[in-house]
Amino acid sequence: MKITMIHGQNHMGSTYHIGKLLADKLATEDEITEFFLPRDLNHFCKGCYQCIDDDTKCPYYKEKRSIIDAMEKADMFIFTTPNYCMGPSASMKAFLDMMFTYWMAHCPREWMFRKKAVVISTAAGAGTKQAIKGVTRSLFYWGVPFIKSYGINVQAMNWAGVKADKKIKIEKDMNKFAQKVARVKRPRASIKTKFIFFIMANIHKAGWDSSPVERKYWEERGWLNKERPWKK
Ligand SMILES: Cc1cc2nc3c(=O)[nH]c(=O)nc-3n(C[C@H](O)[C@H](O)[C@H](O)COP(=O)(O)O)c2cc1C
Repeated sequence: MKITMIHGQNHMGSTYHIGKLLADKLATEDEITEFFLPRDLNHFCKGCYQCIDDDTKCPYYKEKRSIIDAMEKADMFIFTTPNYCMGPSASMKAFLDMMFTYWMAHCPREWMFRKKAVVISTAAGAGTKQAIKGVTRSLFYWGVPFIKSYGINVQAMNWAGVKADKKIKIEKDMNKFAQKVARVKRPRASIKTKFIFFIMANIHKAGWDSSPVERKYWEERGWLNKERPWKK
């Protein structure tokens, strides 16, 4: 299984280690591609809206493209982010912002509707749910049909500080989690995804797009009629 890992931090702390534990149970080293943020995309969206008409005009397209290419080639994504003040890390959020035209409200990519994704977060005491939600929301609106998450309070500032019994629990959890993920061979779009897609198709039909490019994009794919990206 090909996996693309996107880490919302440069360092290899608890969150990274848990993500890597999972990836290593599902794939060989050469099947895993890793990106670290901000190391591999050290920018914030500047709100220029160039991407609405043409993604390649994003001022940070080159860095963004290498991550997106790896995502397209992967069967599964693993996102890792520590909980920072009850949300994902700022670098993770910056990456998600730069992907906003991939939302179903704009120009979702067909290949997203075939992917699996896992989001992993750790916190010292509380808040992994909020950090995870900050990532799963984008994944859902990109059209990813299989999204699972794992959050744990590690009571530590780094992996070395995580107690041995907690590490044993994490290892066991990841074994179970890997089995759960591997069982699903071909993820299918949920009723919720299909419903949101239908609403978005009507929005584009009504001409409420952010740009005529969006309507053309939907029209060319037949999505304003009966064609659907998950049917391909
Ligand atoms: C900027 C910052 C904000 C944090 N905010 C929270 C928080 O709101 N709640 C919490 O329980 N831990 C918080 N933490 C602690 C980390 O989430 C926790 O130590 C996590 O396991 C670190 O993961 P890492 O080892 O992958 O860096 C924060 C840490 C930092 C550096």
